[in-house]
Amino acid sequence: NQSKNVEGNAKDHQLEPFRVENEGTKMTTNQGLRVSNDEDSLKAGVRGPTIMEDFHLREKITHFDHERIPERVVHARGFAAHGEFELYESMSEYTKAKFLQDPKKKTPVFVRFSTVVGSLGSMDTARDVRGFATKFYTDEGNYDLVGNNIPVFFIQDAIKFPDLIHAVKPEPHNDMPQAASAHDTFWDFVANNQEIAHMIMWHMSDRTIPRSFRMMEGFGVHTFRFVNDKGRSRFVKFHWKPVLGVHSLVWDEAQIIAGKDPDFQRRDLWEAIEIGDYPEFELGIQILEPEDEFKFDFDILDATKLWPEELVPVKKIGKMTLNRNVDNVFAETEQVAFHPGNVVPGIDFTNDPLLQGRLFSYLDTQLIRLGGPNFAEIPINRPICPVHNNQRNGFSRQTINLGRVSYHKNSLANNTPATSTAKEGGYVHYEEKVEGRITRARSKSFDDHFSQARLFWNSMSPPEKQHIIDAFSFEVGKVKSKSVRQQVVDMFVHVDKVMATTVADNVGVNRPNGEQSKVTASSPALSQANTVKLPYT
Ligand code: HEM
Repeated sequence: NQSKNVEGNAKDHQLEPFRVENEGTKMTTNQGLRVSNDEDSLKAGVRGPTIMEDFHLREKITHFDHERIPERVVHARGFAAHGEFELYESMSEYTKAKFLQDPKKKTPVFVRFSTVVGSLGSMDTARDVRGFATKFYTDEGNYDLVGNNIPVFFIQDAIKFPDLIHAVKPEPHNDMPQAASAHDTFWDFVANNQEIAHMIMWHMSDRTIPRSFRMMEGFGVHTFRFVNDKGRSRFVKFHWKPVLGVHSLVWDEAQIIAGKDPDFQRRDLWEAIEIGDYPEFELGIQILEPEDEFKFDFDILDATKLWPEELVPVKKIGKMTLNRNVDNVFAETEQVAFHPGNVVPGIDFTNDPLLQGRLFSYLDTQLIRLGGPNFAEIPINRPICPVHNNQRNGFSRQTINLGRVSYHKNSLANNTPATSTAKEGGYVHYEEKVEGRITRARSKSFDDHFSQARLFWNSMSPPEKQHIIDAFSFEVGKVKSKSVRQQVVDMFVHVDKVMATTVADNVGVNRPNGEQSKVTASSPALSQANTVKLPYT
């Protein structure tokens, strides 16, 4: 039934030879030997010890013992689906990327939605950023748009990412709390790394408790480059807009659902696709001409800033439809390897220092997560176009590369893989001019932490503001360190005084002007002393 929906989907055809049907077959060992008994181990006598000779028992148990692979170091819990991307109009003016040229062309995609913090078995409706990673299987190779559902990020430079994640994940001494930001190290990191302010405003908003994966936006976050066939480059930001609109849960719903159905969002996605109510997302782009690079009071290389849509409108250029569930979650959802460095000609990077670090991190982590250098041969990761190079060997190599010459430039073979010119589809990096002294420094505007955080707050309706205050009060109220609670309140007064003062009263610390709070409990959210009337009710 499902395969009807994906007729002509090149990736689905490619996956076909790897599908194994077990129903109605005879059981064998991995060597193909038929098994006569799968219930009793081989013993010396009916009540005797099990004997070493039992190769079937050993193989079965050994394989089981090795079933787990490490979960992703972040975004461990995720759910994915297959689909297709179609373009509305040719983007040839902006980019030479082949899958963005012809509106008739359908490009197979695989999308994995995720939460960032929780482990593999955590609940779906945690207050958390959602990952939104898309693999486009293009005729020129795989292009990965590895985004989130929030348009900005926590930090500006990749060098802080391990610190961020160490602070956000459960605390190391007791491994709590699972999948939640309501704890001391998280808020201590916030107060001491104030570039996070804008992201935290989004984090405390309803955006981090989406109603459904089908009802949330996606963002590439970084500034990327489009390059057209004349070599002209423009800056670009990517957006996914859900056709169903953006919808969130309210906090109480999220909490109740977490208890009743921790699989709520994966079930929602799975069932929508099963009944043919296919999730759709439109791809939007914001384009900036190179001469406008310095037109704003923020740096376009700063991932904690967005490009306001009223200044740089979003143009919708195509639509993605998710129309097929996976056959096997481990084989596909777990083994898929996204990497922001997987690009195609016409799409290039910028010097965003967060992006630059990501370009290193993903391949590095996948080398261990997926057991060595051959994970690109796993069916879900294979491009639909041919792969030829001189790499060889390594754990679990699948291909049998023929010939004895596996090095470039040689005289023994005349048919080793040849490189391609740009005209022939060879990837040529954009020749950006770079100058400056080697330094550990950043643009001045990177230190403006609050302008866009205020912009966000001011764009909220009264109920949304109330939800943000409630979220701050709950999350910061769980922090045991009074000093950290105070630091957070003192920090967010730079966003809004009423907001910070109300939160101060709710979490039992001094108001930002030093005035004593009306509530004196040492940790009011823990002691349920949430008595202050909020201004937006
Ligand atoms: C997953 C690192 C920033 C989106 C991951 C993984 C690592 C990582 C190591 C696990 C990958 C795997 O095991 O396959 C980093 C670093 C960052 C960073 C070092 C900053 C320096 C971001 C940003 C975004 C993002 C800014 C969004 C724009 C994602 C997503 C996944 C992911 C969606 C899950 C992909 C999947 O579903 O398999 N990241 N990340 N990350 N990251 Fe990042």
